[in-house]
Amino acid sequence: MATDGFLDDQAFQAFRSYIYDLTGIDYTDNKRYMLDVRIKKRALENGCADAKSYLALLRSSTNQKAEIDALIDEVSIHETSFFRHKNQVDIFAKLLHEIIEDHGVGSRPLTMWSTACSSGEEPFTLAMVAHDILKDIGWSANLKATDISAPTVASARQGRYNRRYTGGIPEPYFSRYLKPDSAAEYYNLTPEIMRMVNFDVLSLVDEAKMKTMRNMDMVFCRNVLIYFDNDVKKKVLNSLFQSLKPGGYLVLGPSDSLHGLNNDFQRTPYSAFNFYQRPAASRPAASKSTAPGFAPAVKPPLAVTTPVAPSSTLQPGQNFRVKMLVNRLNNGLRDLSGDVDTSLTKTIDSFGGISQTLETIQKAEDLPSKVRSELNAVNRQIARILVYMQVGDRAQQKSEAMRGLLQELSDRIFGTDKEAPDLGVQTTSYDSKILADSNAEDAGVGDSEEMSQDDTDALFS
Ligand SMILES: C[S@@+](CC[C@H](N)C(=O)[O-])C[C@H]1O[C@@H](n2cnc3c(N)ncnc32)[C@H](O)[C@@H]1O
Repeated sequence: MATDGFLDDQAFQAFRSYIYDLTGIDYTDNKRYMLDVRIKKRALENGCADAKSYLALLRSSTNQKAEIDALIDEVSIHETSFFRHKNQVDIFAKLLHEIIEDHGVGSRPLTMWSTACSSGEEPFTLAMVAHDILKDIGWSANLKATDISAPTVASARQGRYNRRYTGGIPEPYFSRYLKPDSAAEYYNLTPEIMRMVNFDVLSLVDEAKMKTMRNMDMVFCRNVLIYFDNDVKKKVLNSLFQSLKPGGYLVLGPSDSLHGLNNDFQRTPYSAFNFYQRPAASRPAASKSTAPGFAPAVKPPLAVTTPVAPSSTLQPGQNFRVKMLVNRLNNGLRDLSGDVDTSLTKTIDSFGGISQTLETIQKAEDLPSKVRSELNAVNRQIARILVYMQVGDRAQQKSEAMRGLLQELSDRIFGTDKEAPDLGVQTTSYDSKILADSNAEDAGVGDSEEMSQDDTDALFS
């Protein structure tokens, strides 16, 4: 197919396979335009008037490493952000807690790898979350962060970001781990985070170098497989499998899948969020057939079932578990109150807008009092829906999990026959706070402040 672009058919095929061999990135026909623009840019910068002479320059015997690096940088997409795919970051934190609890005191450092780290936001996110969890218990984490693009890795190594890119970092991480740079608008990651992450240039299709990456507890390979064809995906997944220690976790991006590509990884309770696991030990042959594609989910590999202390005397090692439970509880409560705060703010904002509109209608029109009262009722119902949707559901679930944790803690300290103290997290009290305002104008209409399941069903029926 002839085009008016920089690349004719022959040049397109030549560059397509050149880049494929170099990076694994497959510029299919429907991405031809993008490749055209990118090659043209590099060619013109090198004083090459056409694609043929640029390809000759790349293949020339003189050392073209700098230009090859620039080309790789140009043809790869580096989009990333701090705390990208927040669900996965939350699960990562949860898994760290589980791993720590299962291993106990005095374990070796955790080793993790961000395989397509781009400008560093992903490994630094993992480092901040890991540091926050590990700092008080004497554990450490080493993060390897690699990418095929040398210029991108060089920029990641700086650990310095314009504030345009730091907006996604939630508290307390932002205040704790970012400090203003001497140049306005810039922030630097703190030394303890910088020390945790080691950057390197590495291509996922470089089989020799991939063999040097071994014994990982967790490997992140997010938002890069999508650029590869199935052959390359299979090879990369196989290499990543080898790089994990038995029981280690592989984390893929939300658009990635193992389907039809790899049968060696097994499912985890977080497979829906693309967390997979290298089996802890060699799998019995029979287990393969029970779940086509994956081995059946098992409890995380290094789990040690520590007996619960029967009374208030803690067994050796129990102190550590209690400390971990307290830590999890603290983090969970902070998370929960953050959730409730954000949801409440959102709820109040949305309700404020709707409520104002309804009031404007009431004022602007000459309404019969019955209609006015109906509008008031609608106003209240909307407040309830918002509260129910934005506050009740999520906060309720989390507070139940917190209660479970508190009970576990209490069992360990006081024995299993005592009930844990009440956490005092009452989501309905937040509901009442809002509803009290919206009911005030119309007191006596006969609504109770709490919303029953029937009320809710009626709203959505
Ligand atoms: C879209 S970014 C993803 C960044 C990060 N993982 C995330 O999810 O936010 C894709 C990265 O993959 C890198 N990449 C592309 N091909 C690669 C390869 N063969 N080996 C290693 N990295 C590669 C690109 O340079 C780019 O920085």
